[in-house]
Amino acid sequence: MEKHMLALQLSHILGEPYSREWVYEQLELPKKESFGDLAFPCFPLAKEFKKNPKLIADELAEKLKHPHITKAESAGGYVNVFLDQSFFTEETLKEVLANDRDYGSHNFGAEKTVVLDMSSPNIAKPFSMGHLRSTIIGNAISNLAEKCGFETVKVNYIGDYGTQFGKLVAAYHHWGDDDAIQADPLTELTRIYVKFHEEAKTDLTLIDEGRTCFKKLEDADPEVLELWRWFKDVSMQEFDRIYDLLGVTFDLTRGEAYYNDKMEGVIKRIAGAGLLEESDGAQVVRLDEQELPPCLIRKSNGTTTYATRDLAAAIDRYESFHFAESLYLVGQEQTLHFQQVKYVLDKMDLPWANDMHHVPFGMILKDGKKMSTRAGKTVLLEQVLQEAIDRARENIADKNPDLKNQEQVARQVGVGSVIFHDLKHDRTHDVEFSLDDMLSFEGNTGPYVQYTHVRTKSLLKKAGYEKGDAEVRLVDEKAWPLTKLVRAFPKVVKESYEQYDPSRIAKYLLDVSRSFNHYYAHNQILDSDQEAGRLTLIYSVNLILQNGLEILGIEAPDQM
Ligand code: ARG
Repeated sequence: MEKHMLALQLSHILGEPYSREWVYEQLELPKKESFGDLAFPCFPLAKEFKKNPKLIADELAEKLKHPHITKAESAGGYVNVFLDQSFFTEETLKEVLANDRDYGSHNFGAEKTVVLDMSSPNIAKPFSMGHLRSTIIGNAISNLAEKCGFETVKVNYIGDYGTQFGKLVAAYHHWGDDDAIQADPLTELTRIYVKFHEEAKTDLTLIDEGRTCFKKLEDADPEVLELWRWFKDVSMQEFDRIYDLLGVTFDLTRGEAYYNDKMEGVIKRIAGAGLLEESDGAQVVRLDEQELPPCLIRKSNGTTTYATRDLAAAIDRYESFHFAESLYLVGQEQTLHFQQVKYVLDKMDLPWANDMHHVPFGMILKDGKKMSTRAGKTVLLEQVLQEAIDRARENIADKNPDLKNQEQVARQVGVGSVIFHDLKHDRTHDVEFSLDDMLSFEGNTGPYVQYTHVRTKSLLKKAGYEKGDAEVRLVDEKAWPLTKLVRAFPKVVKESYEQYDPSRIAKYLLDVSRSFNHYYAHNQILDSDQEAGRLTLIYSVNLILQNGLEILGIEAPDQM
C-alpha cells in the first residue's frame, strides 16, 4: 500500500499523462537499504521534460510531501523515499495480530477450484527424483492456492497403463520370483523389466510375447489382469510409504487405466469435431497451424496413447470440477505432449482448454547428467529421505542429546531439508543432486529456517509473551528491515501463487531468517526499553516462519 500511496503522490505532482499505474510500475527498491525504502527513477522523463534526470529528481524530491513520508532525497537521477517507520510498523503489527494464523491469506480465489495433476509415478518402476519434484512442488502450489482462497483438488495420475505392462507380464512369466517381488517390489519388477529388454535384443520372440500379453490385458484376461492388479497394489504400497514420509496427501488417486473405457467416447468426439485424420494407418489430429507435430490418437495397431488418455482425463476433470485452473506438474521434457493435448481440446472448441497450464520443472542431475532408470543410475528417493533422517538424528545426538521426541524431530528436519533444497531453486532450473548440500544445517537450508523458528519460539516463551496484551508501537530503526519483510509476506504469497513459484517463498523465508538472526544478535530484546513492541515483532516473525514452512509442506518443530 505504501507503493500505491507514493505512486499517487508522484502522479499528482507530475500531472497528465503520468498515471498512478505508470508511476507504480516505475518504482524500484533502492540499491542499498540506507538509500531509503522506495526509489523513483527519473530517466524516462528526461526527454519529455527536456531536463536532465538529476534536476527532475531535485524538483520532485522538493515537492513530495506526505504525512507518512519522512524524507525524499534526490540522488543520481532517482528520488529516494524514506517511509515513516513508526507509522508503518504499527500498521504492520496490527495487521499481523488481527489475522494471526491467516496473515498472508487472500480471497481472490474464493469459490474457484484449482486441479493439480501431481506426483503421478509409474507402477512397477522406482519413484524417481522427477516424481519427487512433482510431488513437493505440486503440494506447495496447492497450499499457496488455498492461501489465496481457492479450493484445490490434488490428483495423483498414476502411470498404470500402456504397452510396457504387456512386456512386464511376459518378463514375469520368464523370470518372476514372487518372494523377491513381495520383499522389494519396485527393484525386482524393474530388474525383470530391464532383463526383458536385454534379452529381447537377441530373442525376438519376446517382443511378440509382450504384445500378446498387452492384448490380453486390454481384453481383461483374468490371469493377466490379476498380475497387473498385483503389480499395482505392491507399487502403491511403496509409494504410500514415501507420501507418508513427505506428509503429502491426495484428494484423488486415479491412474491412466481408469480412462480405458472412456477412450472410444473421446475419439468419437474428436471425430465429430472433424479433427480426426488417417496417417499411415494411424489416427491423428493435425496441429499444422500451431507448428506442432500431429497428436497421435490411435496407433496403427489399434491401441490408444498417452495423449488420448490425457484428453479423456482433462475432459473428465473439467466435467467433475469446473476448474478455474488445471495445472500439470510435470517435467519440462513433456512440454510438447501438453501443448498437443491443450491444442486438441482448443480445436474441439472447449474454452476451458485455456485454463490448463503445464507447470514444468527442470531435472535433478547427477554429475551434470540426467539420472536414468534404465541404466540403474537412479538414486532411490526413499534412500535419500532415510539418509537425511539419519543425518538429522546424528546431529541431534551430537548437539542436543537431551531433546524430547528425537525420532520425530529427526524426521521433521531430515525430510524438511530435502523438501527445502528442492523448493528453493527456480522451478525451471536443473538442480544438481548433492546430499551434502541438501542436508547441511547451515547456510541456505530448511533446517536453518526451522532452527530460526525454534529460536523465535523459545524467545517468546522465555518472555512469557501473551498475544492478548501485545504492543503494536515500536520505534526502532534497527528493526525496520525485519519489519519491512514481515510487511511483505501477503504480497510474496500472492505473487508466488500467480507465478506458480514456491521458490519465492523459500527465498523469502531465508531472508526473514537472516534478518531476524542479525537483529537478535545485535539488539537486546528481553529487558529492553521497548521489550513489548519488539516481542510483537518477534511473534510476527514466528508466525510467518511457521506459515511459510507450512506452505512449503515442511513441519516446524518446537525444539531441535
Ligand atoms: N506418469 C508420467 C511419468 O512418469 C507422468 C504423468 C503426468 N501427468 C499427466 N497427466 N500426463 O512420466
